[in-house]
Amino acid sequence: MSELKIGLVGTGAIGRTHIERINNKLAGAKVIACADVNADFCKKVADQYGIAAYATGEEMIEKAGVDAVIVTTSDAYHEQYVMAAIQAGKYVFCEKPLAPSAEACKRIVEAELAAGKQLVQVGFMRRYDPGYRQLKEAIQTRKYGEPLLLHCAHRNASVTEPWDNASAVENSMVHEIDVLRWLLGEDYATAEVRYGKSTRKAKEGLHDPQIMILTTKSGVRIDVESFVCNGQCYDIRCEVVCEDAILNLPKPATIEVLADTVRGNAVDADWTTRFVEAYNVEFQEWINATKAGRVDGPSAWDGYACQVAAAAASKARETQTIQPVTYDEMPALYKK
Ligand code: NAI
Repeated sequence: MSELKIGLVGTGAIGRTHIERINNKLAGAKVIACADVNADFCKKVADQYGIAAYATGEEMIEKAGVDAVIVTTSDAYHEQYVMAAIQAGKYVFCEKPLAPSAEACKRIVEAELAAGKQLVQVGFMRRYDPGYRQLKEAIQTRKYGEPLLLHCAHRNASVTEPWDNASAVENSMVHEIDVLRWLLGEDYATAEVRYGKSTRKAKEGLHDPQIMILTTKSGVRIDVESFVCNGQCYDIRCEVVCEDAILNLPKPATIEVLADTVRGNAVDADWTTRFVEAYNVEFQEWINATKAGRVDGPSAWDGYACQVAAAAASKARETQTIQPVTYDEMPALYKK
């Protein structure tokens, strides 16, 4: 296959950045068609890139002659379009979360099992960040002994509405739930979410910051701070305390600024700049693997496992208790 022909459904904020990177930056693929419920906006995006616009994702999958599909709609519609792609036998990249509930993710897993091959990749892009990749390599060698504790932070200057007490886990810390499971190479055993003193910058009723505490099956203990109204910056941290060393997620290189009697480094305003390289690597690797007829990245099973842990963390938050994380047995299709 010379060039992978892609159809994208959901021409919102992230959908447009993916069209831009695939058509104007990466190699080996082109988005040739798009669809969105907002027909006017979809047409504008299609005209901007000289691609075809369709009224529905299903019509695009059926008629546009695409080899693969990208789903970047709002979360509630991921399942519908991922299922349509699987039924058409097409590889599909779905932004995170694979679906809003573990049950919906399980239905996708079952559809893939029925198809008899992996077709789905989930957009957990942190796995492609060079810093997280270095951290994983360092942990895997066991040169520094066993990892024992992880201290992580996920901080935003502000968040866009709608945002409520559930969003810290379900929208934000789902990234940690996936990337830390991948870093450590093991599943979770328990989840807990605690509220502390809230910032005056949070709207009424919003608990911010929140702390999520996870334990893995081997007993590694993880704390993640979610502080989404910090008013300052986007800041992602991950410190891995091992038996023989402390390993820290490297910060991306940014320019040094000398101003106002301070020497310092510029900080990221949000995820679009912090993880731009991760998105580029994620999509280039997905294009290459899809053309070779493989799924190398986060699987539908990973999407399911993430939602199982997120559901446990959400229940833990609502009840202010520690909740077990209980997964179904992993099917052979996903064992590497
Ligand atoms: P957005 O609201 O800007 O775009 C969503 C688009 O989906 C809109 O254009 C909307 O009209 C369209 N849409 C809604 N229902 C539809 C339906 N039934 N059929 C077709 N189109 C439909 O949202 P945004 O920020 O682009 O997020 C999209 C997805 O990407 C979400 O699932 C979000 O969680 C994920 N995301 C992932 C990020 C990451 O770091 N990996 C970062 C930002 C978003």
